[in-house]
Amino acid sequence: MIKIIVLLLLCLFFLSDSGLVTGSLSSKHEKIGVFELKKGDLSLKVTNWGASVVSLILPDKNGKLGDVILGYDSIKDYTNDTTYFGATVGRVANRIGGAQFTLNGVHYKLVANEGNNTLHGGSRGFSDVLWKVESYQRDGENPSITFSYHSFDGEQGFPGDLQVSISYILSGKNHLAIVMKAKALNKATPVNLANHAYWNLGGQNSGNILDEVVQIFASKITPVDSKLIPTGKFASVRGTPYDFLKPKVVGSRINKLASTKGYDINYVLDSDKKFKLAAKVKDKKSGRVLELYTNAPGLQFYTGNYISNVKGKGGFVYQSHAGLCLESQAFPDSVNHPNFPSTIVTPEKPYKHFMLFKFSTN
Ligand SMILES: *[C@@H]1O[C@H](CO)[C@@H](O)[C@H](O)[C@H]1NC(C)=O
Ligand SMILES: *[C@@H]1O[C@H](CO)[C@@H](O)[C@H](O)[C@H]1NC(C)=O
Repeated sequence: MIKIIVLLLLCLFFLSDSGLVTGSLSSKHEKIGVFELKKGDLSLKVTNWGASVVSLILPDKNGKLGDVILGYDSIKDYTNDTTYFGATVGRVANRIGGAQFTLNGVHYKLVANEGNNTLHGGSRGFSDVLWKVESYQRDGENPSITFSYHSFDGEQGFPGDLQVSISYILSGKNHLAIVMKAKALNKATPVNLANHAYWNLGGQNSGNILDEVVQIFASKITPVDSKLIPTGKFASVRGTPYDFLKPKVVGSRINKLASTKGYDINYVLDSDKKFKLAAKVKDKKSGRVLELYTNAPGLQFYTGNYISNVKGKGGFVYQSHAGLCLESQAFPDSVNHPNFPSTIVTPEKPYKHFMLFKFSTN
């Protein structure tokens, strides 16, 4: 107990130490740190850079521990990462076509960082800022950490001040909850936050995820154009390589998706329950199983198609399909598609996104 208090005090001391100029308005006095949450066999490491997941250590079916999240050895690598490893992405995750939208009669021009479009909040989105550590409890019944960020009016072109918080919580037996909250302080704004962890249940250094078995509880996708912007239509997954209604091996039909080199698509989750099972992943070799529950309407399924020669943990070099992302979120480019569920957050209507990852083995 005393050890914990000392650690906590050390952390508080460390965090209150000023000096590092980060260029972020709200966090001039923060430093980059790595924080561990530990419960039983489960160990989660996160950093306040991008409120990112650094590692998740889980037992396999034989009790052998392994890290199932792609990432880097050095925290410095997270500051110039371009793959969004483990990051919290926002103010609006995914793409906004033409880097613009109109809201309440006002036209907003955003920072375009992928051709003419905005990806994951612009060239300096929430994944590229230093977050403040609001609270931290390393172990106990419910280890947790909460990061906060004040996004200013006009940041990357978005309207209004926005107060954001991300909490990571370990609970139950091998459960990880992520709670994302945002409150518009003065203007209506689109908000769509997502966690961009790349999972490899066989272990971050096991090669690729093509043999993993995936199930996604969605019978429709939102088809996209050649720049990955939704057309605004919905398409049935039946009879297509996108059909994961029954468990399917990821690599079984991936070659049919040549233009994107794999999966990079938003699924429309079927259940209209507020909190529902969105996806299930199983790695046969290690026996590890992941189930993701969420309140979000969509799930972007991305198979790390464009990863190439990224030097990761322990010197392991990640290639295409080294990991997969299960980004529960609102539909991409919703702000330009009135037929999609609204992503507009107002001072009266705050944002809340809940994710529960349940891990088991069989
Ligand atoms: C970040 O920059 C350093 C120095 O240029 C480089 O060694 C490192 O590989 C880069 N990391 C990433 C993830 O790009
Ligand atoms: C951006 O838009 C302009 C004008 O429509 C077009 O000429 C250009 O090719 C586009 N650039 C990209 C990278 O798509």
